[in-house]
Amino acid sequence: MAIITWKKIYETGIVALDNEHQGLISQINKLYEAIRDKHEEEGLEATLTMLESYTVNHFQHEEKLMAEYHYPGLADHQKSHQELIDAVQDLKQRASSGKDELARELLKLLRVWVLEHILDVDKKYGAFLESRGGRFIS
Ligand SMILES: [Fe+2]
Repeated sequence: MAIITWKKIYETGIVALDNEHQGLISQINKLYEAIRDKHEEEGLEATLTMLESYTVNHFQHEEKLMAEYHYPGLADHQKSHQELIDAVQDLKQRASSGKDELARELLKLLRVWVLEHILDVDKKYGAFLESRGGRFIS
């Protein structure tokens, strides 16, 4: 059972970015299942590894498109991305906290951040980019 199910309301309208968002939600669901099945440590490690590349590749992808199309909210959007990078970094440094606790904290962080970020910040660039570059810009 998934903790987050992809819904149409999450779509930004930019297909390539929506696909990447679905990848992150899929990882959040895997972390949820790992915690449910008492494999917290594996879930934590796998999610942190995924986030290492995701926060670089996906954030760069979004920011590149926003810059290319002169999206006026780019600076604020970058701040929101940095907040997640900082929060994950902070969590990684607290290795003294138990892995079970960190896994639960990461799940909570991602669940709240992702939904708020996609539904608020990402959807704002969606209509803008779609009107200028179309759904299939990459
Ligand atoms: Fe974003």
